[in-house]
Amino acid sequence: MSAQIIEGKKVSDQMRVEMIEEVAALKDKNVIPGLAVVLVGDDPASKVYVGSKEKACQQLGIYSEVHRLSTDTSEEELLTLIDRLNGQASINGILVQLPLPKHINEKAIIDAISVEKDVDGFHPESVGNLTIGDDSLLPCTPAGVIELIKRSGVEIAGKHAVVIGRSNIVGKPVAMLLLRENATVTICHSRTANMEELAKQADILVVAIGKAKAIGSRYVKPGAVVIDVGINRLPDGKLAGDVDYEDCLDAAGYITPVPGGVGPMTITMLMKNTIAAAKKVNGIEV
Ligand code: GUN
Repeated sequence: MSAQIIEGKKVSDQMRVEMIEEVAALKDKNVIPGLAVVLVGDDPASKVYVGSKEKACQQLGIYSEVHRLSTDTSEEELLTLIDRLNGQASINGILVQLPLPKHINEKAIIDAISVEKDVDGFHPESVGNLTIGDDSLLPCTPAGVIELIKRSGVEIAGKHAVVIGRSNIVGKPVAMLLLRENATVTICHSRTANMEELAKQADILVVAIGKAKAIGSRYVKPGAVVIDVGINRLPDGKLAGDVDYEDCLDAAGYITPVPGGVGPMTITMLMKNTIAAAKKVNGIEV
């Protein structure tokens, strides 16, 4: 038996169709969601990401402005811009593209973003709200993982979910979201002694470690849902996930490919957050 492929691109396209309608309905109420994207420096990958975010806004009818700043921008200048965007009514979401140049303290920048406009979900208050179960904007990639599982028709409640990786941007928030969905959650990481044994118990296995093809079928319980958050560039230029996709195809019940799995969901969830932030500030039910 071969796994059912979770096609992130299709799910993402479907969600965007839904959001185009939602943004149009908001326009009738004189609400236009707005996103500010801040790019410091000329990292090629960051430039591509920022371009895709701008394009997604255009596609959905969301107002966007991109602030492209030179590499030598000071932390103070960046903080001044964020302060201005925090107070700008046409902007509902602020995204500062990471990584930032080394002379800028990333934490100081993230902390300065108003929590109501924190569409990346990286602000400590957003993280705290997620952890205690209060309403908050959710980090985009983790939220995309949950959306993919749900839209595949998989029930999360009561399942054993094993997350491999404990980063602040994926592993930890994905674990919190799965817990919120009433899964029983295990977090594995580089110091976990019996990772294979634990992973093999997972009904839902989420992998976010940044190592190409590190997780093969020996980690996968037959029929498990395997979600691969990794995107790694192989020496031959091709992309590969953290999961050895070919090797896991027979064992898994469901599996996300790379590319075309979790990746397309991230920007779509950013759009969802921007719309949610706009609705909230205008007193419209989210
Ligand atoms: N750089 C790579 N991924 C991300 C992301 O999700 N948000 C931000 N702000 N920067 C990134």
